[in-house]
Amino acid sequence: MKDTFEKFSPLTVGFHWIIAIGMIAMLAFGLYIEDLPKGPDKFSLLDLHKSFGIVIFVLATARIFWRIKNKFPKPLSEMPSWQEFSAKFAHWFLIIATVMMPISGVMMSAGGGHAISFFGLELIASGDKNEIIGNIGHIIHGLGSKVLIFFILLHSLGAIKHQYMDKDGTISRMAGKRVKTNTENV
Ligand code: HEM
Ligand code: HEM
Repeated sequence: MKDTFEKFSPLTVGFHWIIAIGMIAMLAFGLYIEDLPKGPDKFSLLDLHKSFGIVIFVLATARIFWRIKNKFPKPLSEMPSWQEFSAKFAHWFLIIATVMMPISGVMMSAGGGHAISFFGLELIASGDKNEIIGNIGHIIHGLGSKVLIFFILLHSLGAIKHQYMDKDGTISRMAGKRVKTNTENV
């Protein structure tokens, strides 16, 4: 079960869409929770946010190993070198963000002395604050989420442009379909 130039494996497709939807939902969830007033509602939603974030972390780590084994996909059509570089840079940024967002969330939470539980099972007990770790986590989580939104937009618009303007089947390939091609990128 390996990716080929014309067809991606179900694992690549499954990982991409589960993690993509998960990340977008978690971004919206995080921004929503942030605006809530402090209280029991906010804390129970935050527990859920942390638990789902840990699920994403596990999937994203597995996906990174899969990506290292499989290499990043080659683009389906020829494009100017700046475009190819931007697409590659965005892929790297996105894949790193899928693990850095959960890691920085843990740093922010644990550094702030708060407990972290996974759907009710305590993983890290509340304890002393570590302001340095907490602040680094906070900066990465807060600022990272804004930069991540920008890259997701750029990445999706790029994919839509390739699919519908260049008609090269970029989204079809990530939907698991076999694409026909006569480029020399193979
Ligand atoms: C909802 C909008 C999205 C669309 C339409 C989309 C579409 C695509 C497509 C078509 C590819 C294949 C590119 C190629 O063949 O060169 C791709 C690859 C990729 N996408 Fe997305 N994507 C979306 C959201 C996301 C999100 C939210 C993330 C992560 C936060 C993400 C991470 C990646 C990565 C890392 C790759 C490289 C291949 C891989 O590792 O599976 N995408 N995307
Ligand atoms: C998929 C991974 C995750 C994403 C995309 C994500 C996204 C976000 C976003 C967008 C915010 C609002 C931040 C801001 O604007 O400053 C936020 C807040 C937060 N996140 Fe995450 N998060 C993820 C995972 C986690 C994990 C695993 C934890 C902890 C174990 C966590 C803990 C927190 C905390 C404590 C807040 C602050 C809420 C507040 O006090 O207002 N996050 N998250």
